[in-house]
Amino acid sequence: MKKQRTSIFKCTSCGHEEPKWLGRCPECGEWNTLIETAVSSRSSPAGLAGGRREAPQSLPLSSVDPQEGSRIGSGIAELDRVLGGGIMKRSAILVGGEPGIGKSTLLLQAAAAADTRGRVLYVSGEESAGQVRMRADRLGISGAAASRIEICCSGKLEDIETIVNAVKPVILMVDSAQTLRTGEAGLIPGTVNQMKFCSYELISWVKEHDAALFLVAHVTKDGLISGPKSLEHMVDTVLYFEGPASAANDGDCRFLRAAKNRFGSVDEIGIFTMGEQGLSVVEDPSLLFLVSRDGELPPGVATAAVLEGSRTLLVEIQALTVPAKGAVSRVFSDRIDSARVSRVAATLEKHLSLRLSDHDLYINVAGGIRIAEVGVDLALAAALYSARTGIPLPAGTALTGELSLAGELRPVRRIAGRVKTARNLGFERFLAPPGEGVVPGLAVKDIKEAIKLLFTLP
Ligand code: TYD
Ligand code: MG
Repeated sequence: MKKQRTSIFKCTSCGHEEPKWLGRCPECGEWNTLIETAVSSRSSPAGLAGGRREAPQSLPLSSVDPQEGSRIGSGIAELDRVLGGGIMKRSAILVGGEPGIGKSTLLLQAAAAADTRGRVLYVSGEESAGQVRMRADRLGISGAAASRIEICCSGKLEDIETIVNAVKPVILMVDSAQTLRTGEAGLIPGTVNQMKFCSYELISWVKEHDAALFLVAHVTKDGLISGPKSLEHMVDTVLYFEGPASAANDGDCRFLRAAKNRFGSVDEIGIFTMGEQGLSVVEDPSLLFLVSRDGELPPGVATAAVLEGSRTLLVEIQALTVPAKGAVSRVFSDRIDSARVSRVAATLEKHLSLRLSDHDLYINVAGGIRIAEVGVDLALAAALYSARTGIPLPAGTALTGELSLAGELRPVRRIAGRVKTARNLGFERFLAPPGEGVVPGLAVKDIKEAIKLLFTLP
């Protein structure tokens, strides 16, 4: 007798079904998206997204509602900024970050502050209702804000399905994706399959019910995120919440970045500080990344004017060079990409005959912010030069400019805005490639000219 098939393989990206497992979905071409699904319940309409089996239809693009105006303010300005103007309805937002960075705190604060009259369902698979309540009390969540938040402590998809269908939340928060499980996606709980399957079901639910989903995902220390990474293609927005390299030195700054955003740019960052009563938005972050000092600067310190989304930040770059301990010199830099540091060091070595290749290079950024903008090159070069020679830079000088391998300084975007921000923060001089707002005497074309000028300034 032919064996009755009990499971099929369903693509988490496009919904295509296959009788056998395949590495690549023949329908949408995505890799590793087919996951095993029990046949019985999927063919019955009783599932989470029950009753969606209508005849498929297409419709004219022009008749589609562009969904603009269907954003919900999160009540947290920096979160809205990163999302591109608020929480998009029918969207799924993955919030990744290391354990303890503040993901649950951020979501609970948004649950209380969101600009909606609808209900917010907070599903916690990690903490008990009591623990969540204690956190809410600590965050000062009470009154109407507290009463519209529903809490459910379970990771079982079947339980969550039932509650979601009863509560019909406008915002669904799931903390965390790693605690989701169901008997339908294999027998072993905690597998990537389980997480993907359950997430897919919840994403489908919010898309069909005009709600929004926040999905928390833990990321391990070394950034290896085999699990959460596999959710990235299923969601609309991926946010990463990160802190400074060492909390001890750099205080309580937290940065929220978008790694993917179907509804906005990925350039904007949200800047928060974690305090006794949760996360607070930093209204004017310009001073967070500078170190105030009286008189002379120590060697190895330079100030860069860099862009972060629509903002200009002045950040202190710190460099330290010591003779290499091993046969091979190394770069220790986790706030600025090490490849960039090596490249700038090589350019200095070549064009200024400054020997750096037999030194270990340590680079840090005050406040612990990660900088990837090209305009940081000149300040990085100046900090390295100053560290290696022991000659400090003149105080009150801000720098910007991209360095080419040939030693030229290339103009950067929005230079006038950088000059203006630096001036407002009390920087008297702005050294940069020629551009709008740069004083002709301080406009430099290559690294040689820049270093010469910098170290002869009064
Ligand atoms: P949490 O949101 O639980 O992190 P995650 O969900 O990312 O694991 O944040 C936990 C940390 O934040 C914990 O170390 C305590 C700290 N914290 C504060 O400093 N102030 C607060 O008001 C709250 C609620 C937490
Ligand atoms: Mg948490």
